Amino acid sequence: MKSALCSRFFILLPWILIVIIMLDVDPRRPAPQLTSRPYFSPHTVGCGGSRVLLRRSSLGRDAAEKRNESRPPLHPEQRLPTIYAITPTYSRPVQKAELTRLANTFRQVAQLHWILVEDRATRSELVSSFLARAGLPNTHLHVPTPRRYKRPWLPRATEQRNAGLAWLRQRHQHQSAQPGVLFFADDDNTYSLELFQEMRTTRKVSVWPVGLVGGRRYERPLVKNGKVVGWYTGWREDRPFAIDMAGFAVSLQVILSNPKAVFKRRGSQPGMQESDFLKQITTVEELEPKASNCTKVLVWHTRTEKVNLANEPKYHLDTVNIEV
Ligand code: UGA
Ligand code: MN
Repeated sequence: MKSALCSRFFILLPWILIVIIMLDVDPRRPAPQLTSRPYFSPHTVGCGGSRVLLRRSSLGRDAAEKRNESRPPLHPEQRLPTIYAITPTYSRPVQKAELTRLANTFRQVAQLHWILVEDRATRSELVSSFLARAGLPNTHLHVPTPRRYKRPWLPRATEQRNAGLAWLRQRHQHQSAQPGVLFFADDDNTYSLELFQEMRTTRKVSVWPVGLVGGRRYERPLVKNGKVVGWYTGWREDRPFAIDMAGFAVSLQVILSNPKAVFKRRGSQPGMQESDFLKQITTVEELEPKASNCTKVLVWHTRTEKVNLANEPKYHLDTVNIEV
C-alpha cells in the first residue's frame, strides 16, 4: 500500500512541477534589468501634455498606449526617475540648429521628457514639425513674453519656465508623485551625458559646477564635508545661490510640495532669477553636491555667436523656400 502510494507520487511529481513552472512564466514580462542603464537611444514616442495651455505631441501616442497595455507595469524600484527638461526657446536664425544639438543629446538619455516652451503667442510651424520628428517624449507649450519685459537688462524666459512648471504641476495633480527630476535646459548650452546620470539621483535639490559663465572659466559651489558652504564665482558673490540656471536640478516632489514657487518678474534682475527661485524651495545647507563634490564641469554655458546675415536679400530670391 505504502509503496503504491509512493510510486504514484513520483509519477505525478514531474507533471506537477511542469504545471507550476508553466503558470509562473509570463512570456510578456521583460527580462529584468541588472543595472539601471542611464542611456539608451531608440525613443520614438511623443507623450505628456495638458488640456489647458497646450497641446502635446501626438506622434506615436497610439502605438505607445498599445505597447503599454501589453506590458505589465514595472515594479516602482525598476523605474528610473523621469528627467523633465524645461527649455525656453525663441525664434531666431539659429533656433533650429540649437534645438537640433539639444535633441541629439536628449535622445541619448533614458526616460527624459522634454518640455519645450516657445516664447510666442502661438506654436510655430518650425518647432512643431521639428518636435514631431525629434523622436523624444515631449510637451510643446507656448507663452509670449510681454513686450515691456523684452529688454536686454531684464531677465529672460521667466514666463516660459513658469509655464513649464505649471504644466508639470497640473499633470501630476491627481497622482501620487512618480519619481522625477526637473532641470532648466536653455537651448544654447552644452550638456554632457554624465550630467543626466548625476542629476537623476536628486533627492531634493542638487547642484554642480557650470563652465564658461560669470566671466570665469567656471563657477562652482564650494563643498566641505559633503555640504555646500559657499560659491566660487567672479560675479555678484552676494547672491544667496551664486549659480547659473544650468547648475541645479529639483526633484518633482519638491516642485509639487511647493506649489507657489515660481520665477518672479517683480524686482527680479538678471542673474538673480536662480536665487529668487531656489530661496523659495530650499536652503544652502540642504543642497546636494553632484559631479564629485562639485569638482567636475559637466555643463557649459555656451552662447551662440550672432549669425552674420549681411548678404541676405531683402526679398525672397531663391526658387525654393527652405526652412533653416
Ligand atoms: C543667462 C542664464 O543662463 C539664463 O538661464 C537666464 O535666463 C538668463 O541669463 C537671463 O538673463 O535671464 P543667457 O545665455 O544670457 O543666460 O540667456 P539666453 O540663453 O539668451 O536665454 C535663456 C533661455 O531663454 C534660452 O533658452 C533662450 O532660448 C530663451 N529666451 C531668450 C527666450 O525664450 N526668449 C527671449 O527673448 C530670450
Ligand atoms: Mn544662454
